[in-house]
Amino acid sequence: MILRRFWGLSHFRPSGITRSRVNLPEHLAKRHMKYGHFDDERREYVITEPRTPWPWINYLGNEDFFGLISNTAGGYAFYRDAKFRRLTRYRYNNVPMDEGGRYFYIKDRDVIWSPGWKPVKTDLDRYECRHGLGYSSITGAKNGVEAEALFFVPLGTWAEVHRIRLTNKSGELKSLKLFSFVEWCLWNAEEDMTNLQRNLSTGEVEIDGSTLYHKTEYKERRNHYAFFHVNAPVRGFDTDRESFIGLYNSFSDPQAVLKGKSGNSVAHGWSPIASHYLEIQLNPGEAQEFIFVLGYVENSDEEKWESKNVIQKTKAKACVARFDTGKKIDAALGEVRTYWDNLLGAFVLKTDDQRIDRMVNIWNQYQCMVTFNMSRSASFFESGIGRGMGFRDSNQDLLGFVHQIPARARERIYDIAATQFEDGGAYHQYQPLTKRGNNAVGGNFNDDPLWLILSTTAYIKETGDFSLLDEKVPFDNDESRSRSHFDHLKASFYHVVQNLGPHKLPLIGRADWNDCLNLNCFSDNPNESFQTTENKKGETAESVMIAGLFVVCGREFVQLCRRIGKVDEGEAAQKYIDEMIETVKNHGWDGEWYLRAYDFFGRKVGSKENEEGKIFIESQGWCTMAGIGLDEGMVERSLNAVKERLDTPHGIVLNNPAFTRYVIEYGEISTYPAGYKENAGVFCHNNPWIMIGETVLGRGDRAFEYWRKIAPSFREEISDLHKVEPYVYAQMIAGKDASKPGEAKNSWLTGTAAWNYYAMTQFILGVRPAYDGLEVNPCIPPEWKGFTVHRRFRGAHYEIAVRNPNGVMKGVTSLSVDGKTVLGTIIPLLPAGSTCRVEITMG
Ligand code: GLC
Ligand code: GLC
Repeated sequence: MILRRFWGLSHFRPSGITRSRVNLPEHLAKRHMKYGHFDDERREYVITEPRTPWPWINYLGNEDFFGLISNTAGGYAFYRDAKFRRLTRYRYNNVPMDEGGRYFYIKDRDVIWSPGWKPVKTDLDRYECRHGLGYSSITGAKNGVEAEALFFVPLGTWAEVHRIRLTNKSGELKSLKLFSFVEWCLWNAEEDMTNLQRNLSTGEVEIDGSTLYHKTEYKERRNHYAFFHVNAPVRGFDTDRESFIGLYNSFSDPQAVLKGKSGNSVAHGWSPIASHYLEIQLNPGEAQEFIFVLGYVENSDEEKWESKNVIQKTKAKACVARFDTGKKIDAALGEVRTYWDNLLGAFVLKTDDQRIDRMVNIWNQYQCMVTFNMSRSASFFESGIGRGMGFRDSNQDLLGFVHQIPARARERIYDIAATQFEDGGAYHQYQPLTKRGNNAVGGNFNDDPLWLILSTTAYIKETGDFSLLDEKVPFDNDESRSRSHFDHLKASFYHVVQNLGPHKLPLIGRADWNDCLNLNCFSDNPNESFQTTENKKGETAESVMIAGLFVVCGREFVQLCRRIGKVDEGEAAQKYIDEMIETVKNHGWDGEWYLRAYDFFGRKVGSKENEEGKIFIESQGWCTMAGIGLDEGMVERSLNAVKERLDTPHGIVLNNPAFTRYVIEYGEISTYPAGYKENAGVFCHNNPWIMIGETVLGRGDRAFEYWRKIAPSFREEISDLHKVEPYVYAQMIAGKDASKPGEAKNSWLTGTAAWNYYAMTQFILGVRPAYDGLEVNPCIPPEWKGFTVHRRFRGAHYEIAVRNPNGVMKGVTSLSVDGKTVLGTIIPLLPAGSTCRVEITMG
């Protein structure tokens, strides 16, 4: 209410935001093509053409039970861990790709079709996929029948609900046959793909009316099973893949559907599936809906069995009963919407450019949640079996998530900290189901420890909750080696101090943030992983990026020490920071930009002296964010060099010139073809570091320009080139040296989500949580006449209006709270529940 009135004030409407598109070369600009559009009102992306340039996916579920679903209903479901508890089978790297999912087949006389177009691929009269927040709805129409399939995971539920509504839009009676289909995965997704000599004999099912149960391995060591249910009597079913599909048929033409009749098969080994067969009569104009529930149950040892070899079904039945009517589904979907209304209500931006607002208010925040949930485990590029929760990744992901559900952020911080060692080092990742650290993707990444300081201080600034510092947290997952969380942070800080190299810069270890700059690897064997191989002792190679990161995180540590009365501790730490700043100035500066590193032989990396890889983005980002050498002009020179050498129409590339030969002393970075991934790709994760660096200089135009270049909504017009979803960030966009600059890969699970959110909200818009209040200090393009932000912060509501009458980029000349002038840029804390109006004038 207040919000609306406030926004109604016309003079707060910014007007000068430029609408220019990504500045593309002529020949590309002509080929613009989209496959759908944003529906901001409903917070959906609407895909109107099933043949997108790559499957465009969405995520279902937010707590324990998750699904990945493409715009043609491909994908899979899992409970908590995409490797150890995968419910339905999915074949990555398949041909054709994205085959297998939650499929419906409709047989209308001789015409067979699927609402999501796939798998049957019969041409539809109409197709529409709406990816919303936590749900997807796919509608297909053919020969007068419309089928709308809604997919979501209700809150507090270990199940996906699929509601299919069939409407007869023709003038005649329709006799339809409907077949459902999912294929079970034998739980451990990796074993499922590889251990066929065992798997093909283990599959077991139970059939109970309209519920098909998957109970493989339940009788021995598993206490969980899965089920697929429909809320109507079935005419038949199948639980054995070969019976349903046929050995020489495929998902697109299952023999049971062709025949119009299920086989009532009972799987014994081979590949268990679940398929229902329904017969439906629809009068002209009539609609009927069916609710399918794909669920997961855990039983304790005592409650495992109903009778000998018959599984206990009580929980499955209770779950099904919760969703047996359309009304209940509407209510459950309503809860999901309300849940998101509430989460997104913490930060609401209004500019006059919807493309900005929809990223900040909807999609970027949504992606931050998904990335928080998944880390880098399961997407259409991450197979769900390779990587767990990364130490550095998960800490950084918190920067974009902590304002959404601080309690979950708090728990995550502990989980991560518990995989740290006493000396501050850390396992590089842990498995979400066990929360145990492991070395599967290497260890000894010397940047890892510092990110824990960044996530922890972000959490405290957001919540004011210092109590987590006192909580006892294990080292190496060993309860007997628990210390306070503050001690973990201290260990993080001193891990750097205790691991300095010949120039007194931080030793890089296996690698720093850039996994592919492997300065101690020296591998000439293609069967060695760059991530787990260290053929040289890491006692010389140093990282200038970690130095900058250390200064930024170190200052956070010092500030925190002062806050909690550890003044001496803070002072001691500050000395190391001051020394590091001097060291970077003396040994980390190349004349026009910051060096990247010193290699194993003590030679400069990222210097004008190098033939390739003269300049790298990471050290420019962190040293400018740290403001190292600001007074000496280093920050400005560094950022100008970035603009000149690394900037492209599609974002800022990682390094330049790209490597064109394998440099054994640099490792994986020089293995990628020029323009891809860490070798001069636009690695979107690090672009925000430069945006933030630009705000240190007060250059809001440049900061925003960099934001805009990689923002998905600004790239929507070139979807055919960009290729992946226009509503979420991708890890990489091919760089200027690539064969197809601008083509993106690896969407969804990337630190890009958190960093862009952080850079945009806290540094460009400048709305930044501080220990004592909410700071507002924007750095925007001069054409912006202003903007408004609603921020929920520590339980109070801040209605912030920023005006920029003189077209400056930075500088607050007045700040008032409910009409009263406040000095500085920090809005003092308000009591929870209260609302205030903040007016800010820049000048
Ligand atoms: C990937 C990794 C991340 C790393 C980055 C750069 O995004 O998940 O940990 O920092 O690549 O190599
Ligand atoms: C990161 C990098 C990738 C590298 C991988 C190794 O994801 O982006 O290039 O191969 O780490 O784990």
